[in-house]
Amino acid sequence: MTILGSRLDTSSPEYGSRREAMLAKLAELDAEHAKAVAGGGPKYVERHRERGKLLARERIELLIDPDSPFLELSPLAAWGSDFPVGASVVTGIGVIEGVECVIAANDPTVRGGSSNPWTMRKTLRAADVALQNRLPFVNLVESGGADLPTQKEIFIPGGRIFRDLTRLSAAGIPTIALVFGNSTAGGAYVPGMSDYVVMVKEQAKVFLGGPPLVKMATGEESDDESLGGAEMHARTSGLADYLAADEHDALRTGRRIIRRLNWRKAGRPALASAAPRHDQDELLGIVPEDLKIPFDPREVIARVADGSDFDEFKPLYGASLVTGWASVHGHPVGILANARGVLFGEEAQKAAQFIQLANQTRTPLVFLQNTTGYMVGKDYEQAGIIKHGAMMINAVSNSTVPHITIVMGASYGAGNYGMCGRAYDPRFLFSWPSAKSAVMGPAQLAGVLSIVGRASAESRGQVYDEEADAAMRQMVEAQIEAESLPFFLSGRLYDDGVIDPRDTRTVLGFCLSAIGNAPAAEPAGYGVFRM
Ligand code: COA
Repeated sequence: MTILGSRLDTSSPEYGSRREAMLAKLAELDAEHAKAVAGGGPKYVERHRERGKLLARERIELLIDPDSPFLELSPLAAWGSDFPVGASVVTGIGVIEGVECVIAANDPTVRGGSSNPWTMRKTLRAADVALQNRLPFVNLVESGGADLPTQKEIFIPGGRIFRDLTRLSAAGIPTIALVFGNSTAGGAYVPGMSDYVVMVKEQAKVFLGGPPLVKMATGEESDDESLGGAEMHARTSGLADYLAADEHDALRTGRRIIRRLNWRKAGRPALASAAPRHDQDELLGIVPEDLKIPFDPREVIARVADGSDFDEFKPLYGASLVTGWASVHGHPVGILANARGVLFGEEAQKAAQFIQLANQTRTPLVFLQNTTGYMVGKDYEQAGIIKHGAMMINAVSNSTVPHITIVMGASYGAGNYGMCGRAYDPRFLFSWPSAKSAVMGPAQLAGVLSIVGRASAESRGQVYDEEADAAMRQMVEAQIEAESLPFFLSGRLYDDGVIDPRDTRTVLGFCLSAIGNAPAAEPAGYGVFRM
């Protein structure tokens, strides 16, 4: 009775044009991902290879279990900034010796692997993922340290990188550093704060100050090897626990270390699961290009949930928000999905109740966003839309079960908050290429500015310049539109990545499995619900 059917007409022109539009956006996404994979470009990649070294992604591939997937996080970090896409570090979740781990690998082909403000944010995000989900944290180190021209942005807040490493360790989450090259100055505290350190012979260089700095500071003559070489650290200082003969040996040693952790997942194991009854490929043709046109999120759930089985809760009440129970790859979840863009008071109250029910049974929540926010207007204000929205936001904020958010379409206004946007700390947040997020829609925002400007001119007794107003509207609309697109938002780390809709079930399953490393959450306590 709870198996979802589908009304999607795959032979209709709408389906065809939606699918085509999504494929075009995915082609753009591929091109942006390719920039991250290209690292510092052919010149620096070739130089790196000539030095007999492996690239960051090759190191990761050799570290994780053969043919196992790697869920890369924030691959578009720094998109739209002055820094190369990817932010000179690769981060993600991979399985090593059967253990899900967070891996962060510097990309030495991009400005010597130095850390710019986006690298820092991406690295801090990776450490958060490790801490929240109790995943061992493996650093593959080869970095020129702080990006010196932007040091003011990173030096002080970047201290958290080292604090996080020791907090992970204190929380019983092992930290491992495999050092392939430079790890100097502040960077020396990555191995310094890690539980296990492996250094590659004649490659690792770990010192607080290199020979020129030592000469300046104390007048002492020194060289790289005696100050910070792998042999010295393995035999003399004791900072290296293992001396690796080469990069492959270091990666093998890293795997050995993980094997000996005797790691056990603390959460509930997954149950048996069946594939959805409807084709996941059809997820390409569901979201309209014009986000003002609503779509039924049950069509998405039918292609993501195990066996397309969705036990809908309160289906007759607050119908603009769909709530219900399902499982994904054998992990039970509660799903909240926007059906028509706007959230009314009923939807907000239904959401608050549903979130409490999920907390009662410690069931993780999945938010499928396509919302233009809470309803505005006299009748709605008088009926208490603020109170009801606040109720939903209270429930989301204080819910302690893991949340995963997928932004499928619109994510505007406080709807972004109530549906667990980035500021509400979902364990993971991914966007589809069709996503758009801003305080409000571009036309509405430009219109509001225009009304405010007109009123202000009138109050000063001035004539409003209609021509300038039209130009302003056009400019603002274009700016807000550009700032609401997924590459831009992903570049600022407002999500963990832009994914192909067809991968949604796989990504959710992967994340839910990773989340299962941590024990079930403690019950939630809420703030005062304003009734
Ligand atoms: N900040 C900004 N740019 C940096 C940088 C840093 N910390 N480290 C390297 N770069 C840039 C270089 O200027 C160079 O740019 P260019 O090719 O446009 O000239 C590029 O990255 C590659 O550096 P290069 O020195 O050619 O690479 P390498 O592989 O031979 O050496 C390092 C890499 C990291 C060993 C070397 O660049 C270095 O010693 N950097 C400074 C390290 C340091 O003292 N950091 C301070 C930490 S707080």
